[in-house]
Amino acid sequence: MKTLLKLAAAAAAWGVAGAAHSQGNAPIKVGLMLPYTGTYAALGNAIENGFKLYVQEHGGKLAGREIQYFKVDDESEPSKGTDNVNKLIKRDNVDVLVGTVHSGVALAMARAAKENNTLLIIPNAGADAITGPMCASNIVRSSFSNWQPGYAMGVVAGQKGVKRAMTITWNYAAGAETVKGFTEGLEKGGGKVIKELTLPFPNVEFQALLTEIAAQKPDAVYAFFAGGGAVKFVKDYAAAGLNKTIPLYGPGFLTDGTLEAQGPAAQGLLTTLHYADNLDTPRNNGFRKSYALTYKANADVYAVQGYDAAQILAAGLNAVKGDLTKRDAMTAATKRDAMTAAMRKVVVDSPRGKFTISPAGNPVQDMYLREAKGNNNEFKAVAVKGLADPARGCKM
Ligand code: PHB
Repeated sequence: MKTLLKLAAAAAAWGVAGAAHSQGNAPIKVGLMLPYTGTYAALGNAIENGFKLYVQEHGGKLAGREIQYFKVDDESEPSKGTDNVNKLIKRDNVDVLVGTVHSGVALAMARAAKENNTLLIIPNAGADAITGPMCASNIVRSSFSNWQPGYAMGVVAGQKGVKRAMTITWNYAAGAETVKGFTEGLEKGGGKVIKELTLPFPNVEFQALLTEIAAQKPDAVYAFFAGGGAVKFVKDYAAAGLNKTIPLYGPGFLTDGTLEAQGPAAQGLLTTLHYADNLDTPRNNGFRKSYALTYKANADVYAVQGYDAAQILAAGLNAVKGDLTKRDAMTAATKRDAMTAAMRKVVVDSPRGKFTISPAGNPVQDMYLREAKGNNNEFKAVAVKGLADPARGCKM
């Protein structure tokens, strides 16, 4: 009985939300919630650029409908996450949310998306819980789970004979989860993490922690930082002379979109990620050319994830011929509808290579080992093929 009441309440709530959906030929309203300020600002911009590039390549339309953008700067500030996402859901009545970069903010977005049954496409934030215990049919990621690149780097480090590793990262979901993935991969190869170092997000006072690394002399260091913080960390690591004695590994975020600013300090760094700049495929070459022409900047993994978020949305919209009111006719009992089903079934023809989407809503994708050379993260090898997040706790 309780379940029935709950379902009825949910159906009523969705009905109200559905009534607000763009009708007829009105534009589809896309709410971009991204960081446009702070340490992740460049990541937010690249995601927006990538998303808009795909739309632009399709004449400014998806499934025959114009796209109208609404933007909120989330500042990578989890405490403002709920208020910010509600501006898009309740004030702007967007049809679909696209965001964000920071896992803590994305958790607030996912909660709101679940409550309102708003479509949410996550173009970066890897929070494991979103495609784990919180998984939902209306939420899908075009990026990765924090576990994925961490696990791949752990496997590679194990293969390289690393026995004693240290980790260093910001103290929030993304840092903790990528370290967990790394530890799991490394332990499979017989190594272990002897010490986990953290500092609060988005602090960049690394000196005391670098001194501790020098004292412990591990076989390798695994670091997760991104954006402005990654630029400073890689430079500080080299300035302390540690790059000469202790290999620095990381998920590719450590060197993606940052190589120009990191300069010589980053050269030769090995990282794992679901993208490499020089993947020599017509799809990647075409994408990079078009991105560079449009934005006078080099594409990076964030641009790819934004581009692919638009591809996933297009797959969903095509399934309902651009008519979102069809999605509202979904049955409350199964929470399934043609649109969200299509967003799970799609094989995404990404610049990173083709990938599929798991039942939990996360990309199943190859993880590449890359090496920083010049301004490129160059492909070296496939570290783990077709890696699926374990989706622990997802019941769907
Ligand atoms: C995250 O918070 O999930 C996150 C942020 C930046 C990255 C990767 C993951 O580059």
